[in-house]
Amino acid sequence: MPAEISAEIIDEIADNEPFAPFARWLEAAMRSEPLAETMMLATATRDGVPSVRAVLLKGADAQGLVFYTNLESRKAEELRENPRAALCFHWKSLGRQIRVQGRVASAGAEEADAYFATRVRDSQIGAWASAQSRPLESRAVLEARFAEFRDKYAAQERVSRPANWAGYRVRPERFEFWQERPFRLHDRVVFVREGEAWRKGRLYP
Ligand SMILES: Cc1cc2nc3c(=O)[nH]c(=O)nc-3n(C[C@H](O)[C@H](O)[C@H](O)COP(=O)(O)O)c2cc1C
Repeated sequence: MPAEISAEIIDEIADNEPFAPFARWLEAAMRSEPLAETMMLATATRDGVPSVRAVLLKGADAQGLVFYTNLESRKAEELRENPRAALCFHWKSLGRQIRVQGRVASAGAEEADAYFATRVRDSQIGAWASAQSRPLESRAVLEARFAEFRDKYAAQERVSRPANWAGYRVRPERFEFWQERPFRLHDRVVFVREGEAWRKGRLYP
């Protein structure tokens, strides 16, 4: 084995569960590159036709990984049909990838209200203006809707959360940590949920 291939990742992921190493890798990525909380979210229709897009991770703990979106969007429609998702983070600056898969549930109104309240006002207005994933005739129509909602809320101190804007929590059943290594002998460490415990193993790169 080449000298460069050390046991580094084994030490790095000595944990028996995936959430602590996930938090460490995310923190390292946040220090290392912009928008490190971006994750690719894959969903599929009932018939298994897949689709994928970027969303932002807005919360992560042992309960799962949370993102926010429009409940009438394509992704939300697919999640209603098929409440399973896969997530993928790729951190180029660190040569790392984390893949997650699991079942998806609503994050709940209280959590969505709390997060919505932290958004800048114009982003809150934007949530009202966007009928996400619906056909849009022109940019001008979107801007007119934005102006309309800005006027509507002008006299109000708080912009309420639209009922169709909410959070989802992906409850992981599987995590994979991938670390780039020389000679394409990359490390892959996998955790598979078994009840409340996790089975840990390695995969060939
Ligand atoms: C870096 C980045 C972050 C994004 N974050 C979100 C997000 O947190 N929530 C969201 O609904 N869309 C987000 N989007 C837009 C989505 O990728 C997508 O265009 C939108 O949600 C509509 O997807 P859908 O039609 O498949 O439902 C983001 C896009 C990029 C490039």
